[in-house]
Amino acid sequence: MKIKVNENFDNLKPSYLFSETAQRARKYRAEHPDQKVISLGIGDVTQPLAPTVIKAMQKAVQEMGVKETFRGYAPEYGYDFIRETIANYYVNNLGVKVTPQEVFVGDGAKSDLGNIVDILGDNRILIPNPVYPVYMDSNLMCGRKVTLIEANAENDFLPMPPNDDIPSVIYLCSPNNPTGAVYTKEGLKAWVDYAIKSGSLIIFDSAYESYIREDLPHSIFAIEGAKQCAIEINSLSKMAGFTGTRMGYTVIPADLSSGKYNLNKMWARRQATKFNGVPYVVQRAGEAVFSEQGLKECKELVNYYLENAKLIAELLDKKGIWYTGGVNSPYIWLKCPNGFDSWSFFDYLLEKAQIIGTPGVGFGTAGEGYFRLTSFGSRENTLEAVERLDKIL
Ligand code: MLT
Repeated sequence: MKIKVNENFDNLKPSYLFSETAQRARKYRAEHPDQKVISLGIGDVTQPLAPTVIKAMQKAVQEMGVKETFRGYAPEYGYDFIRETIANYYVNNLGVKVTPQEVFVGDGAKSDLGNIVDILGDNRILIPNPVYPVYMDSNLMCGRKVTLIEANAENDFLPMPPNDDIPSVIYLCSPNNPTGAVYTKEGLKAWVDYAIKSGSLIIFDSAYESYIREDLPHSIFAIEGAKQCAIEINSLSKMAGFTGTRMGYTVIPADLSSGKYNLNKMWARRQATKFNGVPYVVQRAGEAVFSEQGLKECKELVNYYLENAKLIAELLDKKGIWYTGGVNSPYIWLKCPNGFDSWSFFDYLLEKAQIIGTPGVGFGTAGEGYFRLTSFGSRENTLEAVERLDKIL
């Protein structure tokens, strides 16, 4: 062919971080078919959906088999019932005023975080280093230049705003993936103040808010002024075990504008063109997540993973290995012991303990020498992994 392709793809690493770790794990499994490999790598849940969610899905499936209640295309932004349910969750559970028209239901945070670039122009893009790789990759794919803001042990992996007033698109993730660090109200306020002063937009990834157990902000909109400068993107993947079921949502304040452009309307336009909505059955499952009983059951699920995190953290304490996260977060971010770099520690764990983790450098250059373990395994596997780590660390 002689067509022009998107040459910005030259700026990406050859493979996506979790494809690379999965490929190395597959190779190891093929070469060692008798070994039991335990994954504490990609943040994929292992526990079944909550009973209340299953009941709602079953009911919705039945409806789809009856002429009178069958549904075709779902509305692009979500059925009214789910947009209302999520807005009520913000109002009643997070103490933040959000209206149903500000909620856009999608198939997960990853898609919305990747697609949001469609409505943004060529701005300075501020991305923490290290962080969830989707922010960086989706900006590189459309030719944006990215400015990194370093997260490190000195700033507790919570970088603060720069000393300038350049209008920027700023990505923040709290509780953070991969470090587990969580911004305080004061920390987020500093970012919101900076965004307002400089005319910037904050894209706030709150995918792990349901892991917060201390008095820390669950939503950027808990900060005064955030409705003038922020979009929030969340997912039911980690809150309710929807990694395979797929549902998330993006909140764009009704008045969020830059000049004559209203971002809520632009996103609505973008979704109407490129998205056909989340399946009805899944939206009913999502609705059940936010019911009183659903929230209770999902909290138990999250507590289960937090307990796993505690088991891993206790082992690291015992070994005197530096780490952050593991509370208010399913991720534990540790300093590779004995001078290992991130990828050689990955190989070491795989070869010596048959454990898959995620190399810190995969989340950005500042992650070199660090490593991420997740608490999303089963209890049985987490206990076995801890025992194996105890032997080799
Ligand atoms: C992770 O392991 O960082 C997450 O599972 C990735 C994701 O949510 O897409």
